Amino acid sequence: MKLAVFSSKPYDKRYLNAVADAKTPSGSDAIELTHFDFPLTPETLALVPDHADAVCVFVNDHLPASAIATLAREKGLKLILLRCAGFNNVDLAAAAEHGVEVANVPSYSPEAVAEFAAALVQTLNRMTHKAYNRVREGNFALDGLLGRTLHNKTVGVVGTGKIGLAMAKIMKGFGCRILAYDPFENDELKQIGDYTSLGRLLSESDIITLHCPLMDSTRHIINASSLARTKRGALLVNTSRGGLVDTKALIGSLKTGHLRGVALDVYEEEGSLFYDDHSSKIIHDDVLMRLMTFPNAIVTGHQAFFTEEALTEIADTTITSLLQFKKDGKCDYSLIKKAKEGSKAEPVRKP
Ligand code: NAI
Repeated sequence: MKLAVFSSKPYDKRYLNAVADAKTPSGSDAIELTHFDFPLTPETLALVPDHADAVCVFVNDHLPASAIATLAREKGLKLILLRCAGFNNVDLAAAAEHGVEVANVPSYSPEAVAEFAAALVQTLNRMTHKAYNRVREGNFALDGLLGRTLHNKTVGVVGTGKIGLAMAKIMKGFGCRILAYDPFENDELKQIGDYTSLGRLLSESDIITLHCPLMDSTRHIINASSLARTKRGALLVNTSRGGLVDTKALIGSLKTGHLRGVALDVYEEEGSLFYDDHSSKIIHDDVLMRLMTFPNAIVTGHQAFFTEEALTEIADTTITSLLQFKKDGKCDYSLIKKAKEGSKAEPVRKP
């Protein structure tokens, strides 16, 4: 079986190869992995090896309808394996139309992402990143490092699926009050917090943390008007997808001093920058560069998932899906099947 892995980093190679070797030790069933360090996009389609059984892509690979049509027609591709949870970068309708199966890794240590979101809250709030630099230079002054006690503060969780729920539990552990917004309510969340409208969540939360997927309906869910509804002095954390936040509007809000701080692990134009070393190059993204000039903005390079446990689970699920497809022509984590089954239930609350 031939699997072409795009956007592959040394750690992807290490974990995927190890699992593939363990699951198909030798013989004709062995999985042959080819790793490409660049993303699969309409511009790189031609490099998909002929006779590849599947391609494996990550968050910043880009497969619109035209790319899927070409892969199906010209390469005979039958399977796209996303080694991530989010799938906003692959046109599922086009895949269904061309008979291409698409599977993701719906859950790989949601706690890893939630723990990182909590770390960003703590860093923003107590400025440990600044303290680290100060002390290394012999500056032990505290002025400028004043934080707020989290206990009794209100945390607004937008999206209460696996990661949002894990984040709510962590923040509950700090003694915070949990407000949540999700069109589909989660019974476990109700034991530790209260569902409300997005508007009330924005206006009452001291900390807003985003955990909903990127879809047409959630693109720029944080925009100029939603930012205007937030509490003065609130913190905003986004570890979900960059497109949830209108970055220019966010910069506008930071300029007025309305928000106390923002931490982004994801950025709407991250595709051309994240996961690569640009430290000796000129970065042409003026919006991102402006954002990073704010003393109260923290940007990390989409690393919330990045733990040993998560990489193991990602590799295991990806290779298992490949083997399932080879055996049965379908995958347990088929996004095509999920899309056909439709939504879980009627939304119970509107934004
Ligand atoms: P999930 O599918 O378990 O939960 C998503 C929740 O969002 C669902 O409960 C859904 O009902 C809710 N939702 C849908 N539309 C909404 C709306 N308009 N407003 C509020 N909530 C809405 O997904 P999971 O595993 O919790 O992941 C959440 C997101 O985290 C993923 O979509 C992905 O984009 C991101 N992610 C980021 C990672 C990182 O390294 N930074 C790693 C893994 C996931």
